[in-house]
Amino acid sequence: MLKIGVFASGAGSNFIAIHEAAMSGRLSAEIRLVVSNNSSAGALEYARGTGIPALHLSSKTVADETALPRAFLSALAEHDVDFVVLAGYMKLMPREVIAAYPRRITNIHPALLPKFGGKGMFGMHVHEAVLASGDAVSGATVHLVDEVFDHGAIILQRTVPVMPGDTPQTLAARVLEVEHAIYPEALQLFAGDRLHFDGSHVTILDTAHQT
Ligand code: GRF
Repeated sequence: MLKIGVFASGAGSNFIAIHEAAMSGRLSAEIRLVVSNNSSAGALEYARGTGIPALHLSSKTVADETALPRAFLSALAEHDVDFVVLAGYMKLMPREVIAAYPRRITNIHPALLPKFGGKGMFGMHVHEAVLASGDAVSGATVHLVDEVFDHGAIILQRTVPVMPGDTPQTLAARVLEVEHAIYPEALQLFAGDRLHFDGSHVTILDTAHQT
């Protein structure tokens, strides 16, 4: 059972998909905390509506920028979080938090990494770049988080077709549907101890890891 802390900046549809998967038993996890840098994030509103502890933590809510990593770590510890899920979180995770949760922080990106990732590749910019490239497929990627945007080992990817006449918005909607499916699936691989890591290479095991 994963004890998840979610970080989200926006609508929170991935967070909601993960919460629904956990409630239905498809994902062995409990969401223990939601953190946002954005006080008006839909993710915070949904969390409050469902009784999940919800915190607004940003450089504006703490004394200075250096206090933020400590505030994150103490909130995660206080809520007994053992796995961190970034779901549309628009800030770089502080290195202190990455160090405290080795191979226990994931992110989802709305394209097939390593293509169309990195700084500036967020929101509609991603889908605009995919359409401009002429690629026939796009998709979504769940990956581990390290100190570089969109860079850690890839856990799971799924493709969607790029259709003639697609706009960034129609492509984004098709990708988002796939995101909602693969993020809970990827987290269940962690919950079931089904991942083997060899450096940045990840293998999905048929059954739970025996060590
Ligand atoms: C998703 O497209 C995700 O891939 C990206 O940010 C968006 C978040 O959407 N990292 P939501 O807040 O989960 O609805």
